Amino acid sequence: MDKAEILEALAAKRGDDVRWQGGRTFGMVYDAGPEAHDVLEAVATMFLHDNALNTAAFPSLGRIQSEVVGITADLLHGPDAAGFLTSGGTESILMAVKAARQRGRDERGITEPEMVLPVSAHAAFHKAAHYFGIEVRKVPVRSDWRADVDAATALVNPNTVLVVGSAPQYPQGVIDPIPELAALAASVDANFHTDACMGGFVLPFMEMLGEPVAPWDFRVEGVTTISADIHKLGYAPKGASVLLHRTKALRRYQTFVFDDWLGGFYASPNMQGTRAALPMACAWAILHHLGTDGYQRLTRLTLDTRDRMVEGVRAIPELDVVGEPEAQIVAIAAAEGEAGALLDVFALGDALQARGWFHDRQKPPDALHATVSAGNAPVIENYLADLAVCVDEIRHQRLDDRSTSYATLE
Ligand SMILES: Cc1ncc(COP(=O)(O)O)c(C=O)c1O
Repeated sequence: MDKAEILEALAAKRGDDVRWQGGRTFGMVYDAGPEAHDVLEAVATMFLHDNALNTAAFPSLGRIQSEVVGITADLLHGPDAAGFLTSGGTESILMAVKAARQRGRDERGITEPEMVLPVSAHAAFHKAAHYFGIEVRKVPVRSDWRADVDAATALVNPNTVLVVGSAPQYPQGVIDPIPELAALAASVDANFHTDACMGGFVLPFMEMLGEPVAPWDFRVEGVTTISADIHKLGYAPKGASVLLHRTKALRRYQTFVFDDWLGGFYASPNMQGTRAALPMACAWAILHHLGTDGYQRLTRLTLDTRDRMVEGVRAIPELDVVGEPEAQIVAIAAAEGEAGALLDVFALGDALQARGWFHDRQKPPDALHATVSAGNAPVIENYLADLAVCVDEIRHQRLDDRSTSYATLE
């Protein structure tokens, strides 16, 4: 096929994809606007073919990685923090869990490792437990959706290698009681991970804007690792997250080193071997293009848009916002009447989708999930107008399909 045929065929395949370009998608793609696209597309072309597998061959990528990690460590108040870029939140979490298991094994001789995990923590932690053979001790959430510290206290034991909290957690967008959870981990010399995949490039700028932010970063004693995704509200294209360790000494548990191969000495900090250069270079580019001022501006837009969404949703009697969102995430559920939910939010999600708006579905409780970002700002009033129309339209509908959509299955 020639170039024209290829472009035509691929464009045709995209017909049913969500249209994030118009700000109508609440998640998955985060849009910093046309000027940022222009920069990122030029950088993507420049680094399209390079490989960060061996930074001796591509020293530029080694420098790019350490500069991005350094910027992130400064933002997260980790003066001695050290880390690596990964391909995304899941890979950062996998490596944080692997590092905790390794530290528990090396320093405390733990052979049956356990992880204390709020039920709100991202599914990637269960994936890590499955991959690395770790027992999960599940912590319930309180009525405000934050992890229940008392319940966590009862679950920590000498086999605990990791305690987890999120800032904010994905389902309802609240920040767990990080200082209390981190102290629990420290009490048995275990790692504590703050999952700031969502908040890592939002909360620091909220603080600069004078917004209230619960403690979550390296200023909290006992926090040993933090994940922060540049490909979410850092506005980089996909494939870029940072995993930071409080110190270089703790970071060594992340890296796999092997010196008994006919191919020579092998060392790798990631799940991946060959690593795409494009996301790394784009992450560097967006951080430098937006700068602190740019991120503050986008964070202000995001928070104002979130506030309009929360206000608009709560103005509709049949709807409610779940919990009190602390950053950019909003979960929309049906209000409860005497006979249960006043409408079917999944039917509402379908009606919105028919008008070009996209929410992920989640449960329990049945809710539509929104990760609000600056790209949604120009169309939030149109969204609220369509939301009211859709509520009227589906008032009496109940769908049989209760499945949620955060998955790739074939
Ligand atoms: C809190 C949190 N952690 C981790 C992840 C996983 O990130 P990724 O999808 O980049 O692997 C997400 C994704 O939404 C998230 O919200």
